[in-house]
Amino acid sequence: MKLDITTHMNSFLDSKVVEKYQKRKNEVYQQLDQAYMNGWLHPDLSYVDDIIRVRDKVLKHSQCLVVVGIGGSFLGCCAFYEMFTPYFKNNHFPIIFAGTTLSSRYMKELLEYLETVDFSLNVISKSGTTMETSLTYSAIKRVMEKKYSKEELKDHIIITTDPVKGTLREEINCEGYESFEIPDNIGGRYSLLTAAHLFPLSFCIDINELIEGYQEGIQKREDAYSYAAVRRSLFDQGKVVENFISYENNWYYYLEWLKQLFGETEGKEGKGILPISMIHTRDLHSLGQFIQEGNKIVFETFFKIRHMSDCVIDGKDLHQMNRVVEDSVITAHVSGGVPCITIELDEVTPKTIGEVSSFYFLVAAFSGFLFDIDPFNQPGVEVYKKEVKTRLKDI
Ligand code: PA5
Repeated sequence: MKLDITTHMNSFLDSKVVEKYQKRKNEVYQQLDQAYMNGWLHPDLSYVDDIIRVRDKVLKHSQCLVVVGIGGSFLGCCAFYEMFTPYFKNNHFPIIFAGTTLSSRYMKELLEYLETVDFSLNVISKSGTTMETSLTYSAIKRVMEKKYSKEELKDHIIITTDPVKGTLREEINCEGYESFEIPDNIGGRYSLLTAAHLFPLSFCIDINELIEGYQEGIQKREDAYSYAAVRRSLFDQGKVVENFISYENNWYYYLEWLKQLFGETEGKEGKGILPISMIHTRDLHSLGQFIQEGNKIVFETFFKIRHMSDCVIDGKDLHQMNRVVEDSVITAHVSGGVPCITIELDEVTPKTIGEVSSFYFLVAAFSGFLFDIDPFNQPGVEVYKKEVKTRLKDI
């Protein structure tokens, strides 16, 4: 991957501001190295063989896998699944992602569908207490209890949770279900290289490629810090929104993953850069107008891809055309007062996306420290949960 934080930026950045943040580099590196929740820097991968063992078992007896979870603990699975399964061919093992909604229509249709298929269930929750996840798990488990014996359930339910505590861990101990751990020192949104993500992803990609890329990206401290320092400087200069942009439709969930990572990492104590995303060229016909001529609060990060599938239309290479449009948009946006950062990949593979992902963990953590907040908690999420708890007593 090639990060470019200069070509389309220099005229926007005040070098004194950037320097102020560059000077904090050693202090920030130290903060990260001393943080308790930094297990994602050196993830333990001793469970990978076990992932393959359980996956192979599931493949033998199930037509699909239902993955139940919400937020950082599972969004990366959706992102990689979307990116690495074909748009139209049905030649892959299907994964259904559930647990992100309380929509009764969705739940009813899901449960009715699950009655008709042989499936396995992977519930992912570090705390084991997340409302949406718990509710969806218990509804699906009821369907499973009608279809499978107690003994069969041991082969069909896989729980990924805290190594020692929580209701899900108690259930594993009591029922003997297959299980994986999310280590204590890795939070949900930093859990890409834990079983929370690697187990479901083992059904659709070669997870060793992802691991290889991740390990390369995590070495890129210098680049990640420069990116963090630049975005922090842009914030001081009034650019308080970062727009992540892809020219590929199947990056929708990857951009959601990035928004989740930065939203929960930085948005605290009245601080933080608001992450938004656009898929081009679709969104050039909606938010594009705002970016070009609206309030100048936005800077952008474009994901550029060198090589894509061959497709020639009317004598023109479509990917080349897509890239020309991308470069034209960058020029237009820069002329409209929007600083643009680019990250260029040779191609989209589990390895290159693994590399970008761990690189972004570093950028997010460094950015959090540069805002003087804790990058690893999300106390604000508790506020709505408390309110819900009080009101749910009445229904
Ligand atoms: O990134 C995070 O830490 C959060 O988004 C959590 O992943 C999310 O709230 C789900 O939590 P849990 O895994 O405890 O169910």
